[in-house]
Amino acid sequence: MKALVLSGGSGTRLRPITHSFAKQLVPIANKPVLCYALEAIADAGISDVGIVVGDTAAEIMKAIGDGSTFGLRVTYIRQPHPLGLAHAVYIAREFLGQDDFVMYLGDNFVLGGIKELVAEFRRDRPAARILLTEVENPSLFGVAELDNAGNVVRLEEKPKVPSSPLALVGVYLFTPAVHEAVAAIKPSARGELEITDAIQWLIDEGHSVRPLIITGYWKDTGNVTDMLEANRAVLESAERRIDGKVDDASEVIGRVHIDEDARVRNSRIVGPVSIGPGTTITGSYLGPFTSVARDCRIENSEIEYSIVLPEASITGVGRIEASLIGRQVEVTSSAHTPSAHRFLLGDHSKVQIPS
Ligand code: DAU
Repeated sequence: MKALVLSGGSGTRLRPITHSFAKQLVPIANKPVLCYALEAIADAGISDVGIVVGDTAAEIMKAIGDGSTFGLRVTYIRQPHPLGLAHAVYIAREFLGQDDFVMYLGDNFVLGGIKELVAEFRRDRPAARILLTEVENPSLFGVAELDNAGNVVRLEEKPKVPSSPLALVGVYLFTPAVHEAVAAIKPSARGELEITDAIQWLIDEGHSVRPLIITGYWKDTGNVTDMLEANRAVLESAERRIDGKVDDASEVIGRVHIDEDARVRNSRIVGPVSIGPGTTITGSYLGPFTSVARDCRIENSEIEYSIVLPEASITGVGRIEASLIGRQVEVTSSAHTPSAHRFLLGDHSKVQIPS
């Protein structure tokens, strides 16, 4: 069995963060979301992985390399344009050969792994196994309609009026039967070859497509709220580990991970919190469910339930909450009067100020 991990595409919903870098590399608890997918695949006993890459190929390749750190053999498959999830399967045809495979969307986060799912698929081998979960906003996803016996009867990609609250989770298992389906379907109205259409084709042609409704933890990390939630879920089970330097004037409470070369001075850190290497925290408060990446500087500030990406600096800022701060971003206070907010914001930035 092989795995196909989709890491191409463009992350419009996480803009502006993904103007400059791959959404699959946005860190959750200071580890790229894509790494959780690769770990889950390795843990399920699969070692041959094809990673579909697009414009951000160089960054993905730099982060993952040949896959050996995960115990995997990685083959990169270049997709010239993001023409759809089924298109990604189409261009991976040679890599996949006649093997069954798990297709894993590189920006999806499934807590608890896929080990049992893969083991069960190896035993039963339906043409496709799809994961579904109930969501509040099905229009943002592929949606599945089941009959009374629990069989999938209809799939639709991002329907305006959803026929059910069951969204497709970004982990799918296929036998080689899917290749015939992918070759048979036509691009959708939005110009993409949809995997939902390929699975619908399998159903219409009488192949077995089995749904599994999951109630566990799943996030499509394509938006900030989900990223923060995934970050919370991972930090929740993190262990306390202090490798960096903490001075006597600081207090570090609970499950806090302070990486090597990180320094905490005169600060209060209340876990779960993760602080990356080379980062300094001075005269500040870091509250629960906060990840600060490498080489950041936080001074005289308060931050809680947030993700801070590498090389950002936050100085003299009262309280930051539920925020995703991009790479090399500077947030500072100004001593000048009149007191006014001053911004230099990139395209698609979002700012909320108490009114
Ligand atoms: O997250 C689950 C949802 O994922 C499903 O419910 C939908 O049915 C499915 O279409 C997909 O919807 P998204 O709008 O979230 O897909 P997105 O464009 O974000 O792409 C998902 C991943 O696949 C992402 O890591 C980028 C990658 N990708 C996407 C396309 C369109 C590719 O590698 N190539 C592509 O052509």
